Amino acid sequence: MIDIKYRDPSCRGRGGILHLPHGDVEIPAFMPVGTNGTVKAVKHDSVADMGYTLILGNTYHLYLRPGMEVIKAAGGLHEFSGWKHNILTDSGGFQVFSLAPFRKIREEGVRFRSHIDGAYHEFTPEKVVEIQETLGSDIQMALDICTEPGISHKDALKALEITTRWASRAKKRWENCRDDYEGKLFGIIQGNFYEDLRKRSAEEILELDTPGIAIGGLSVGESPQMFRDYLHYTSQFLPEDKPRYVMGIGTPDYMLEAVEAGIDMFDCVYPTRIARNGTCFTLDGNLALKNEQFRLDQQPIEPSCTCPVCQQYSRSYLRHLFKAKEILGPMLVTEHNLHFLYQFMAEVRLSLKEGRFLQYKKSFLDRFSKRTF
Ligand code: GUN
Ligand code: ZN
Repeated sequence: MIDIKYRDPSCRGRGGILHLPHGDVEIPAFMPVGTNGTVKAVKHDSVADMGYTLILGNTYHLYLRPGMEVIKAAGGLHEFSGWKHNILTDSGGFQVFSLAPFRKIREEGVRFRSHIDGAYHEFTPEKVVEIQETLGSDIQMALDICTEPGISHKDALKALEITTRWASRAKKRWENCRDDYEGKLFGIIQGNFYEDLRKRSAEEILELDTPGIAIGGLSVGESPQMFRDYLHYTSQFLPEDKPRYVMGIGTPDYMLEAVEAGIDMFDCVYPTRIARNGTCFTLDGNLALKNEQFRLDQQPIEPSCTCPVCQQYSRSYLRHLFKAKEILGPMLVTEHNLHFLYQFMAEVRLSLKEGRFLQYKKSFLDRFSKRTF
């Protein structure tokens, strides 16, 4: 499933190819988030043209709306949405905890109310595997419990223990998926911000021998230093021969940190969310288009960017679109941000291949963090 083709000798960073049912993915890879079966404000064809061959969907959202009957009738999420490449779906473990207005965890599963209409539902590890099988997910995630920083060791341990038992039940159900379903299951390491618990969770999840491994419960409100410490601490336990995924990170500095720690995949709503609000990635840092200083600025968002938006539109015009609340504004900036990130990751991969990743990381961050518009 994973071909590691090169390693940077000066850190744990590595690169290669992930082979999935809907084609190959070059890693390390950023995965754009398409919660509802669409990467918001951009057509599938544009996402694919940028080079992306793996996007993320959310079990929680798709199960609630349109519901499994609708997606099943189409033959799965690929057929329903028209996206021809790979889809990874999150299990709902995180969304239930961040979105649902009510949730109650029991050994059997988690009961929750929908953020859409307040109706009661229950997710069990088995049911969530079944949903993702029906979706036809190329990678599916086990149901887990993601906890926030600051909870007690006792509570973090309790969440970790349930997460392990749920992952074990998920694995058993996944092994009984229909023969023509080729999606891979990833277990998720939790353990909050306690080293002994991170180690224990890693050991227990690795013991289950799922095809891939994720680190969850990071970038949930902890300080950047805590993020870095627990990212590096936890990733040392990950096996060489499996894909490694850190969930929910998408700022260039966190992605670079993850690549340095030997992570292969990450996702985040951040690049597309800030785009819809008029914030663009540039080599000199984030640029907030709505600022007065861009009113007459005839330059493209990023002069060195090769995306279609930067070939055709000025900061001045894009700023006007946001001021006038035109739909085209979010569409164009989303396209730029995703294109920028794809090119960024392509450069990251090249620097790993050429054994100069740490140099690349430093020079990128020196420039990226110098100026904020
Ligand atoms: N997305 C971001 N963090 C997490 C996590 O800890 N678990 C899951 N399932 N999804 C996430
Ligand atoms: Zn651009």
